[in-house]
Amino acid sequence: NKLIIAASCALAMIAGTAQAQDRNLRVAFDIPYEPFEYRDENGELTGFEVELATAMCEELNANCEFIIQAWDGMIPGLLARKFDIIMSSMSITPERAERVLFSEPYYITPGGWFGPESFNTDVTDMDAMKGKNVGVQRGTTMDTYVTENMGGIVSIKRYTTAEDMVLDLEGQRLDAVFVDYPVGEQTIMNRDGYKEVGESVKLGEGVGVAMRKRDADLAEDINAALRKLKEDGTYDAIMAKYFNY
Ligand code: ARG
Repeated sequence: NKLIIAASCALAMIAGTAQAQDRNLRVAFDIPYEPFEYRDENGELTGFEVELATAMCEELNANCEFIIQAWDGMIPGLLARKFDIIMSSMSITPERAERVLFSEPYYITPGGWFGPESFNTDVTDMDAMKGKNVGVQRGTTMDTYVTENMGGIVSIKRYTTAEDMVLDLEGQRLDAVFVDYPVGEQTIMNRDGYKEVGESVKLGEGVGVAMRKRDADLAEDINAALRKLKEDGTYDAIMAKYFNY
């Protein structure tokens, strides 16, 4: 066995760098955020972005390590070099683009409104929404949206994890939550007693891989890899596994 390994290493060396892993990349995810990144029944990290990251790393011939990072420390963690890229359903916004470099968008998700079946007002009716408890994940585009558009009207409850927010909705401590549409669709709407309670809102210019500003070369390679995965059908196959549309 050792001989075979030695032989294939020698071959790889002859072949040049083709076999070598030429990059180490640490990829950050905030979980659970199903269907983007979460643990399956066996505790394995899975989801649309986990699989996309895996395929992308293969395409880049990179040795990737997956890191779990709370959402509110994402950009600070990236800048502090705790990891090298963020693939955590991070929407591309001008504010974030001042601090990080984004790849081309690889997914588009609006913010969606979800609540109990009994919710009977219109989320755009500010009189009806007065005093209602609205949940968002802290530091997300949904947080920014409700803060700017409904601050002082609704009572905004900010959560460190999307999971705690959904638990509070179940515990009837929230009237409605505002979360990336696929997350609400797959973790709230798929249960009895819940429904969509308002029109989705476009927030940001799609979801991208976030990197440090100085990593322009990496961004170029990542864009090329993403394009390749779209062309060869890998992207569509991963999409089909995690989204219902
Ligand atoms: N798309 C939203 C944003 O960019 C929320 C993303 C939260 N992601 C997560 N994995 N918890 O702000």
